[in-house]
Amino acid sequence: TKIGVLGSGSGSNLQAILDAIEAGTLNAELVLVLSDNPEGYILERARRAGVTAEVIDCGGFKTKFPDEKQVEVAHRLKDAGVELICLAGFMRLVKQPFLDVFPRRILNIHPSLLPAYPGLMAWKQAVNDGATESGCTVHYVDAGMDTGPIIKQARVPVYSNDTEETLHKRIQEEEHRLYPEVIAELIKC
Ligand code: GRF
Repeated sequence: TKIGVLGSGSGSNLQAILDAIEAGTLNAELVLVLSDNPEGYILERARRAGVTAEVIDCGGFKTKFPDEKQVEVAHRLKDAGVELICLAGFMRLVKQPFLDVFPRRILNIHPSLLPAYPGLMAWKQAVNDGATESGCTVHYVDAGMDTGPIIKQARVPVYSNDTEETLHKRIQEEEHRLYPEVIAELIKC
């Protein structure tokens, strides 16, 4: 199965996917990594692994992902032979024109037990809220924000002395285990 990854940041989840492929626990080929952030370390990680990595130019819009750009990106992924798309810290909302090109073939990982704490910095929301448990969720992407059908979750405790950083780190460790595992299960089906 040919995978494409979209991200905006450090790419630690991309790295977990690359490592699982390398270790032979994920039988897939990573063919294309796209980032809307030219500074994103995710691009560097991809190139180091010999994977084609390109910038999505959203024309100066900070968070908007214009429809015509969505179509262009979806077709770029199709042309690369991508069969499954993994969003990994991608900070723009993927909408219908994109979803239509890959029906039920786009996954996302989110740092909370959805439907709790959708949106930005979910780990911070959990700490501020006094939650005693959090975790991460892999779900199919629909046109909402972190609303698509849930595939699998992993739980972590939240301790009373946790800071945003300590909780985020604990959640990320679970993300790096969960995401490759779910992808491997899905491509077996
Ligand atoms: C992760 O915490 C993920 O859940 C969220 O954004 C973060 C991406 O981190 N959607 P990275 O770029 O994979 O390191």
